[in-house]
Amino acid sequence: MHIYKVGGAVRDRLLGRPVSDVDWLVVGATVEDMHAQGFRPVGADFPVFIHPKTGEEYALARTERKSGRGYGGFTFHASPEVTLEEDLIRRDLTINAMAEDAQGNLLDPYNGKADLENRILRHVSPAFAEDPLRVLRVARFAARYAPLGFNVADDTLALMRQLSVSGELQALTAERAWKEIERALMESQPQVFIEVLRDCGALHELMPELDGSSQALAPLRQAAEHDQSLPVRWACLMLAIHDTTQINAVNQRFKAPRDCQELAGLVGDCLPLADRARELEPSALLALLQKFDVYRRPQRFEEFIAACQMAAFARGARSYAQADYLRGAASKARGVDVKPLVARGLTGQALGEALKAERLHVLAQHKATASCV
Ligand code: CTP
Repeated sequence: MHIYKVGGAVRDRLLGRPVSDVDWLVVGATVEDMHAQGFRPVGADFPVFIHPKTGEEYALARTERKSGRGYGGFTFHASPEVTLEEDLIRRDLTINAMAEDAQGNLLDPYNGKADLENRILRHVSPAFAEDPLRVLRVARFAARYAPLGFNVADDTLALMRQLSVSGELQALTAERAWKEIERALMESQPQVFIEVLRDCGALHELMPELDGSSQALAPLRQAAEHDQSLPVRWACLMLAIHDTTQINAVNQRFKAPRDCQELAGLVGDCLPLADRARELEPSALLALLQKFDVYRRPQRFEEFIAACQMAAFARGARSYAQADYLRGAASKARGVDVKPLVARGLTGQALGEALKAERLHVLAQHKATASCV
């Protein structure tokens, strides 16, 4: 039995990047051998085991063959005869198809190290096309490594194009696609993810609503530069779509998490109001705060402000005075104390109206103070 470190851990060590999780490959062993050594089997799809002490994943070397549409359509063959080279050739990119033995020697049959040095994302073999998820993976790696100068090889982009026009991307589940989208959005240059998907025709298949100009990616770029959260980044991307029905359609298609869906919808609807916040009458401002439920959901309003700010930066603004104004308004409205009103004996609708009047009053004061500054 030979055990190798493979995949991302080898790649990232050579790039001098932090290695988060290590995948191991076991060549020359049977399932029984693994059981005998105390490994615990996991994963219904492939022969993968968990190390009894470290908890890391160990996979038996395998070959794979496409047997149906989409990500799940594979038959695999794992046996002690499968060699390291045979296992590595079925992998997506040359930079992900390197292995390291126990002595730290690099085993690199598909020249991943050279591609790493030349900053090229290149597929290992035509087997790349057997898994449509790889189109999204390559775009995600392009986004992650863009600051290091990586580009997708021309013939890999051509393969991605073929996969896109073949309709295979439609077979991806919402969950798998979203997982890639989510990870890509959190990279340092997420706009590159969208650009690569556009270049290979995948964007047209996955999010045709976004298939317009690159200009529209500027808010997302700002969101990444300002280290914003996932919901803010998603909302900034969705700003490229001007129609709320279409934003909802994209949200549904990928089953985006609720916080992302909500923020994208609210930003799509309310950004113009935020941009004019200082001109809004107290009643309009209060309606905006109520819509966001700033009393119970302060974080969501904060993310809304952030998304509006990123959009302003994308238009070339150097600052966004509305941010502090909106924050101040929310804090003033939140600060209205209901207890004195209850002490006055108010209940039900009368209490609601008195509370509203109090809030309008503090918002009017807020507006007056801001216009004096
Ligand atoms: N792999 C592949 N095709 C896929 C998924 C994974 O070829 N659709 C291979 C690649 O060799 C990859 C390895 O399986 O390096 C491990 O996959 P994963 O853990 O998903 O990715 P990493 O390469 O470790 O990258 P990341 O840093 O994004 O986790």
